[in-house]
Amino acid sequence: MRYRHSTFGAAAECQAPAPTVLSPIAAGKGIFRVPTRNRRPVAASAQSVATAAQLFATTQPAAPGSTAVEPQLDPELLTGFVDVVGITDVTHDVKTFELRAAWMPSVDFAPGQYVTMRIPELGLERCYSISSAPFGTNTFTITVKRVAGGAVSTYLHDTVRVGDRIHVDGPYGLFSTSFHPAQRHLFLSAGSGITPIMSMVRSLLARQGGSVTDIAFVHSAATPVDIIFRAELEQLAELAGVSVTILCSRDSDSETWTGRRGRLDARTLAEVVPDAAERETFVCGPSGYMDAVRPLLAEAGVAQVHEESFVFATAPADRVARARSGGRAGLSGAAPAGACHTIDFVGSARRIDCDSDTTVLDAALDAGLSMPSSCSEGACGTCKSTLVSGEVEMNHAGGIRPKEIAAGKFLPCCSTPLSDLVVER
Ligand code: FES
Repeated sequence: MRYRHSTFGAAAECQAPAPTVLSPIAAGKGIFRVPTRNRRPVAASAQSVATAAQLFATTQPAAPGSTAVEPQLDPELLTGFVDVVGITDVTHDVKTFELRAAWMPSVDFAPGQYVTMRIPELGLERCYSISSAPFGTNTFTITVKRVAGGAVSTYLHDTVRVGDRIHVDGPYGLFSTSFHPAQRHLFLSAGSGITPIMSMVRSLLARQGGSVTDIAFVHSAATPVDIIFRAELEQLAELAGVSVTILCSRDSDSETWTGRRGRLDARTLAEVVPDAAERETFVCGPSGYMDAVRPLLAEAGVAQVHEESFVFATAPADRVARARSGGRAGLSGAAPAGACHTIDFVGSARRIDCDSDTTVLDAALDAGLSMPSSCSEGACGTCKSTLVSGEVEMNHAGGIRPKEIAAGKFLPCCSTPLSDLVVER
C-alpha cells in the first residue's frame, strides 16, 4: 500500500496497502533510540506472545447469546476489533464505514492519520485514512474506494455489513495539519486521496467554530460521478474563507461537466490559488498525480509541502516469497556478511546475526523467518514488535506511537541494531 509522507516532495499512502516514506517529515525528527526497557524473563515474554495470539482469536465477534469475555484493551490505544455501525454509499465505487471502538471513551487521532486494517480471512493488512474529524467520541470513519482486483477493498465493499467487527491498529501517520499548524492552507487531492484531506478540512472547520478560516482546496476527479464527497465540497464552497475548485478530466455518461475541465496545471493553480506560495500545502493522490503536481508547486514557489501516497518500496508478495524461500541466508541460518550483533527471537526460538546497517526485518527475512510487514518503511505499524532487551536505532515514519515506544515496542522494518537484541516474535 502506500503511505509516504514527506515535507518536501514525498508521499504517504492514503488508502491501500502500507505507507512508504520517502523521507521523514523533518530530517532527524524520526530518529529514535529504543533502549532496553523490558528486561522480562524469556518465559514471561513467551507468555505475552501467546496472550497476543489469544487476543486476536478471542476478539472475534461473539455468537448471539454468547457470554464470551472481551479481552483487556488499553483504553488509550486504537488497537482491537471495532464495530461497524454504519455504511454509506459515497459514489458508485466508494463507501464510508463508520466504526466504533467500544472500549474507548473517545478515539484520539490527528486529522489526516490512518489506521491499519487486518483481514484475517484474507491474510492481508491495509492502511486506510480516517475520513472523519475527531468527534470526541469513540466513532470514526474510513472511506474506501473499490479497487479493481483489490482484495481488501472488495472484501470491505462486498462482505462487510453493519454489525460486523474489523480489527484495526492505529492511528498512525504524520500527514496532518495538527503537526504542521498554519494560518492558511492549500489542499490538493485526486481520487480517493481526498480522504485524509477531508478529515483535515472538517477538523479545521470544526475547530474554527464557524469563524472565518483560510482554506484553498483543489480536488481532481475523473468524471462528475467520481467526485467523492461532492455535496459536501459544494457546501464548503459556500463558506467564507474556503475556496473549493473541482476539476474533472471528462464527462460521465449521466452528466456533462460544466466546471473546470482537465488536469491540474500551472495556469489553473495560479488562477484559483494565486497565493499558493504562502500556504502550508498538503497533497494526496495517486503517484502519477503526485508526480505531476510536484513541479507545479515548485514553479509556484510553494515550499511547505506535505505529501501522502501509497507506494510500496518492496512489494509485500516479494518479501513473503523471500521469507518462504528461506531468504538469502537460507534456513541454515548462515550469517550475513559483516554481521556484528545477534538477534534472539523468543517466540520462534531462533538466533540470527545482523550487522548494524541491516534492519531487523531484513535480517529476519534473509534468515528465512516469517515476520509480518507491509510498508517496510516504518509507517504502517504492521511489523510492530516488542524489544525485550537491547538497543536499536529506529527511523520511523509515524507507524508507532510514543506510548508504544515507551512500552518497549519498536518497528523492525526501520530499526537497525546497536547491540545484541532479544525480540518478542
Ligand atoms: S512494515 Fe510497516 S511499519 Fe514496519
